[in-house]
Amino acid sequence: MHFKAAVFDGPGTPLAIEELSVESPRFGEVLVRMTASGVCHSDYHVVLGEWGAKFPLVLGHEGAGVIVETGPGVSGLQIGDAVALSWTPSCRRCRYCVSGRPQLCSNAVANAYRNVLPDGTTRLRRNDDQVYSYLSVGSFAEYAVVPESGAVRIADGVDPAIAALVGCAVTTGVGAAINTAPVAPGSTVAVIGAGGVGLSTIMGAALQAPERIIAVDLSDEKLDLARRAGATHTVHARDTDVVEAIKDLTGGDGVDHAFEAIGRAETIEQAYASLAPGGTAVVVGQVPTGVKISIDPMVMSGRELTLTGSNYGSSRPSIDFARILGLHSRGLLPLDLLVDRRIQLQDINTAFDAMGQGTAARTVIEF
Ligand code: APR
Ligand code: ZN
Repeated sequence: MHFKAAVFDGPGTPLAIEELSVESPRFGEVLVRMTASGVCHSDYHVVLGEWGAKFPLVLGHEGAGVIVETGPGVSGLQIGDAVALSWTPSCRRCRYCVSGRPQLCSNAVANAYRNVLPDGTTRLRRNDDQVYSYLSVGSFAEYAVVPESGAVRIADGVDPAIAALVGCAVTTGVGAAINTAPVAPGSTVAVIGAGGVGLSTIMGAALQAPERIIAVDLSDEKLDLARRAGATHTVHARDTDVVEAIKDLTGGDGVDHAFEAIGRAETIEQAYASLAPGGTAVVVGQVPTGVKISIDPMVMSGRELTLTGSNYGSSRPSIDFARILGLHSRGLLPLDLLVDRRIQLQDINTAFDAMGQGTAARTVIEF
């Protein structure tokens, strides 16, 4: 079967809409017809050459669709099922999977990071060449073959744009605040970076009734969205000492929880430096390969600070996607405000322009 995909041949070239062919799903795989895909900064890292990858590559890892074919051995999904895609497929056997930490799976996720399916290959071809599938998803395309564990059944009738965002930004951000480092009621929170991931972190934090949520960004538009997501205070980072501003807003103490949702050394250090004694800083953003941070271990022990990382919001997609969509349908997570640009696949490069300029919370491609 042939279909349209946005193919990336490497940094410095735009994504090109091309016809690819897709093979039928093999053992434990499913063929998905995409209904929507978000454009995430983790795609942009590859576009900018900040993360290495092999090419040609179909980017996109924040997708939703419908199952159109199931491979042998697939027992949990049927043709016609609506799914949100997960970029942490899991082997369901390793010690991480069996202990409820599938985002650390040492088998399937390791191959997803190589942009291949669990068997080490992909089903996509351009003429005779293999085309890689970003994070075992490759959602900037009309169709994708993904592992069964990477397609999570969701209720019928969910807006595909929302379902797609649950596949990455929402689960990453909400999960950081409810799973990785659960925000305590009455505590103080700072979220540095209010893109799709940071806004979701704010929403996840807001669910747990903290005393205040301070959002930090460089864009007034994002800070406005942050207030709508639940931030009680905002700090414009340009020409401001962010750490001082956060301390000023917390009576000089600093915050109990600081989340970094950008992926820069400087802002990770700001999150850590903003902590009150006993506080926890969570690295949610992902840095360009090789970036290092510097912290003072004397301060860390003296003030009992915690610095931790969050991958995919420490989520278990098979239960967390439904949990998050349930909270949304009950009006407790204002996810709709994240979808501020809807485009067609052919306009994919404009999404990266908007991301570079920081003008959109999330661009969503609709198929
Ligand atoms: N200080 C404050 N805010 C900043 C700064 C800064 N120095 N630099 C960038 N920002 C803001 C941008 O204005 C933007 O609103 O950070 C936000 C980043 O948002 P997006 O580009 O939409 O990124 P997002 O998709 O949310 O991902 C954030 O999480 O999963 C990772 O790989 C992803 O590293 C990325 C991070
Ligand atoms: Zn993502």
